[in-house]
Amino acid sequence: MKRIMIVMGTRPEAVKLCPLVRELRSRGKHEILVLSTGQHRAMLDSALEAFSVKPDFDMDVMQTGQTLSEVTAKIVRRTDELLGAEKPDLVLVQGDTTTAFAAGLAAFHRQIPVGHVEAGLRTYQMRSPFPEEFHRQAISLFADYHFSPTVTAKKNLIREGKQASRVFVTGNTVVDALRITLTEKKPRLPWSFPEGHRVIVFTAHRRESWGAPIRGMLRALRRIVETHPNVTAVFPVHHNPQVRAAAREILTGVPRVRMIEPPEIVSFHHLLARADLILTDSGGIQEEASALGVPTLVMRYSSERVEGLRTGVLKLVGGSEEGIFSTADRLLSEGSEEYLTMKKPSSIYGKGRASAAIADVLDRVI
Ligand code: UD1
Ligand code: UDP
Repeated sequence: MKRIMIVMGTRPEAVKLCPLVRELRSRGKHEILVLSTGQHRAMLDSALEAFSVKPDFDMDVMQTGQTLSEVTAKIVRRTDELLGAEKPDLVLVQGDTTTAFAAGLAAFHRQIPVGHVEAGLRTYQMRSPFPEEFHRQAISLFADYHFSPTVTAKKNLIREGKQASRVFVTGNTVVDALRITLTEKKPRLPWSFPEGHRVIVFTAHRRESWGAPIRGMLRALRRIVETHPNVTAVFPVHHNPQVRAAAREILTGVPRVRMIEPPEIVSFHHLLARADLILTDSGGIQEEASALGVPTLVMRYSSERVEGLRTGVLKLVGGSEEGIFSTADRLLSEGSEEYLTMKKPSSIYGKGRASAAIADVLDRVI
C-alpha cells in the first residue's frame, strides 16, 4: 500500500479531483491523503462538500489581495513542511493553478514523484492565460507521470520531449464529475425561468481580463439582454474582488440579469445542462459545455481547449464588447442555423471514466 497525497486549492481542482479521490478510496489499494491549500475558501469548500470530501490537511492560505508570489511562497513552504512529516510516495496535482505549481514544486524539491492530472494543455502564449500557461509548462518539466485528457494534449508533451511511456491519455475527470452531479445528486437550487425564455449562463474571472476587458464583457451581456427580451442571463459572480466590483458597477439593476453567489457544483451543472448559450472565460466550463453540447462563446483570444473549438460547440470570440455582442446576437436570432450546428454533445473529453483510467495507471506504475 502506497501513500498518495492529492493536492487541491481552488474550485476547479476540487471539481476535477474529487471524483479521483472517490475512485481511489473505493478501490482501497492505497492510502489517500487530501491536502487543501485553501487558495480559495468558500468556492473550494462548497465543491468539496458536494462530493463529501473532507481534506486531511488544510493550509488555509487565502487572504484578500494577496499577490501571486505571496501565495506561491506560502504554499511551497508549507507543503515542504508537510511532505517532510507525512512522506507520501506520490503527490498528485491538477491543472494550472498556483496550488498545483507550488505544491508540485515542493514535492519535486523533496524528490517525491509527481503525477499531473490534466497534463499537456497549451496555448504556447506565456501570458495567455496568465499565469496558468506558465504553470502548466513548468509542472510538465518536473512531473513524472502525465495524465493527458486527450490525444492532442499527449502530442504536445511528446513534442516537448516527454517519454511516451510516462504520458497516459485518460479523458478529463471533469466529465466524471458531470456524471456524478447530473445522475447521482439533486441540485439545491430549483432553477426556474419564465416560459419561452432562453437561458444564458455568464462567467468571467481570468486575471488577464481584469480592468477594461472584463468591463467590455459585462457591457456585452447587458446589451444582449436589452436586445433580446426573451433572454434571462444567470451570472454567478466569482468571489474575486476585481470581478465583483466591475459586475456591481455595470450590471446592478439590469432586468433579466440574475447576479448570484456562485452555486455549488451540483446546482451549477444542472444549470449548464439547462442553458441555451454560455458566455465564459473559464477553462472547466469549456469542457463541460463540450460534453453537454451547449453552444459556448469563449471570451478569450486563445484557448487550450482546442478539441471543443474543433467540434464547433465552442467559438472563440475574443474579449471585445462588440465581438461578444454581435456573435451572441446572431446566434440568438430566430432559427439561426449557426446555433444549431454548435449544439452537439460530444465525448472529446471522455465518457466519465477518467478517474478509473488514472487509478488503473497508478496501480501499474507506483
Ligand atoms: C484562481 C486560479 C485560476 C483559476 C481560478 C478558478 C491561480 C493563479 N489562479 O484564480 O487559474 O482559473 O482560481 O476560479 O491559481 N476569493 C474569495 N473566496 C474564494 C475564492 C477567491 O474571497 O472562495 C477571492 C480572494 O480575495 C482571493 C481572490 O479571490 O484573494 C483571488 O483568488 P486567487 O486564487 O488568487 O485567484 P483566482 O482569480 O480565483
Ligand atoms: N463552477 C461552479 N459554480 C459556479 C461557477 C463554476 O461550481 O458558480 C464550476 C464549473 O462547473 C467548473 C469549475 O467551477 O467545474 C470551473 O471553475 P472556474 O471557472 O472558476 O475555473 P477554471 O476552470 O477557469 O480554472
